[in-house]
Amino acid sequence: MNILILQGSPRANGNTAWMAEEYRKAAESAGHKVTLVDVAHKKIAGCMACEYCHGKGNGTCVQKDDMQELYPLLAEAEVLVLAAPIYYFTMSAQIQAPIQRIYNMQKPGKLKKMALLLSSYSPNVYDGAIGEYHGIQRYWGVEDAGIVTAKIDEQKATATRDKIFQLVSRL
Ligand SMILES: Cc1cc2nc3c(=O)[nH]c(=O)nc-3n(C[C@H](O)[C@H](O)[C@H](O)COP(=O)(O)O)c2cc1C
Repeated sequence: MNILILQGSPRANGNTAWMAEEYRKAAESAGHKVTLVDVAHKKIAGCMACEYCHGKGNGTCVQKDDMQELYPLLAEAEVLVLAAPIYYFTMSAQIQAPIQRIYNMQKPGKLKKMALLLSSYSPNVYDGAIGEYHGIQRYWGVEDAGIVTAKIDEQKATATRDKIFQLVSRL
C-alpha cells in the first residue's frame, strides 16, 4: 500500500520520530511504499477558514506554504499515519496545522486506513488525541489500522517496536 507518515515532533531524534521511523522500516520491509514527512520542520500555517477552497479555489488552498508539498502525497496515500507527541493532552500543534489544512480536500481521495502513534511522558493522557483521531477516521469513513502509545518507560523499547511491527503486519 502507499503509506504517508506525518511526524509531528520538533525533536528530530525524539521518541515520536523513533516511532515513525520504526513504522517506516517495518512497512518498507513488508513491501509497502512509504513516505515519511517531518511536518514539525515544515512551514505550515493554520487553516484561515476563508473558504477559498470551497469556492473559487475549486479544492485548492489559498495559502502557498509547505502544505503544497503534502497535498499530492495526501492525494495518493492509501494509509495515513499520524505520529505525534502529546502536548497538553492532545497532539502537538505542529501536526494539528497540517491535519486541519486537509479541509480543502474533504477527504484524501485514495485513503483507506489510518493509524496513530503517540508519545508522552505520563500514562493515561491519550483520550484527547485518540478522540480526535477516531473522529477524523470515522468522518472520512476509513478503517482504523491501530494505535500505539509510548509513555516514558516505553520509549524506544523493544516492546513498542514489536507493537508497531504488529500494526504494520495487519495492514
Ligand atoms: C509543550 C509540552 C507539553 C507536554 N504535555 C504533556 C502532557 O500533557 N502529558 C504528558 O504525558 N507529556 C507531556 N509532554 C511530554 C511529551 O509528550 C513527551 O516528552 C514526549 O515523549 C515527547 O515526544 P518527543 O520525544 O517525540 O518530542 C509535553 C511536552 C511539551 C514540550
